[in-house]
Amino acid sequence: MTEPIGASTRSVKAVSSQKVPGQPVAPPLVPATTYHLASDATEGLDFYSRVSNPTARQAESALAELEGAASALVFGSGMAAITAALRVLAAPGATVVVPADGYYQVRTYATEYLVPLGVTVREATSAQMCDAAEGADVVLAETPANPGLDVVDLPRLAAICRARGARLLVDNTTATPFGQQPLALGADLVMASATKALSGHSDLLAGYVAGLDAELMAAVARERLLSGPVLGVFEAWLLVRSLGSAGLRHERQCHNALALATVLAEHPAVRSVRYPGLVSDPAYAVAAAQMQRFGGLVSIELADAAAVHHLTERSELLVAATSFGGIHTSADRRARWGDPVSDGFVRISLGIEDTADVLADFTRALG
Ligand SMILES: Cc1ncc(COP(=O)(O)O)c(C=O)c1O
Repeated sequence: MTEPIGASTRSVKAVSSQKVPGQPVAPPLVPATTYHLASDATEGLDFYSRVSNPTARQAESALAELEGAASALVFGSGMAAITAALRVLAAPGATVVVPADGYYQVRTYATEYLVPLGVTVREATSAQMCDAAEGADVVLAETPANPGLDVVDLPRLAAICRARGARLLVDNTTATPFGQQPLALGADLVMASATKALSGHSDLLAGYVAGLDAELMAAVARERLLSGPVLGVFEAWLLVRSLGSAGLRHERQCHNALALATVLAEHPAVRSVRYPGLVSDPAYAVAAAQMQRFGGLVSIELADAAAVHHLTERSELLVAATSFGGIHTSADRRARWGDPVSDGFVRISLGIEDTADVLADFTRALG
């Protein structure tokens, strides 16, 4: 197929094996940690599974294809992937910008582990990112930002980083590669948690780094080899199995998210709604220019914490839980984790339930 293909087709193709007669259609799980060696040569061979193994490589080639990368490396969690990329690029003396309105544990890591190494860490919100990139060596952007869902103009930020010789890392967790492809927009590396929509069943932790620059990816591979935060083969296999349906699940999640955001924007109990796919959202123009899908997360503000509890207790579909991207619609009151948001702020992760049922459930529960 040479013409552009859709996201669900990309998902299925990414996990499809070569059409070799007698070979399995579904990807096999290879749990072996060690492999026969014929001679002293190890180049291009699997020999020890902390370095590479056939199951992880299947996940890596699928993720590379989805991200439009030359290669990808899987890790035991999203945090393992993000911190590996930071360790490779944030040398002592460097200035690193991290999102002030993004996933809180990334800035906690930067403060607790990079600052003592002599790295200067600056925090910037999505709106401040482009200005904060001036004079930085490494810029880590997360867009849409979790949990506020503000959007960073990636082509603009990439141009600033390129002009200043800074490296741009993009956390693609909330968007997924079906929603946006940061490497095509100018990022040096893309990192993400595959624990969310890509695996999609709330039953495995995984992360990855993907890139186009072979030297940079080799440095990330070396970091992973020496620090060892690899993805277990069973999780790698589950991830490959899940990736085949990820494009389809994500389509429903995005559809549900837009439908819910549209309804909640008019609801009297809802003080504000953020969804980058709502035409009225302040980030819509930037999002529409760089995203193919606007994602499965919607953030809303209710009156207070009690109103959020009331919503989750009265709802029959909504699961009160952290994390996101799973098949169930779920809600997380982010103030509980210390995010800089109001007590009534709730991040909703849309599942794959029928749209009409989700809308009816929310309307009843908020009522
Ligand atoms: C945007 C973002 N990046 C990274 C992570 C970390 O991923 P993991 O929990 O797989 O380590 C999360 C987790 O919630 C996240 O929301």
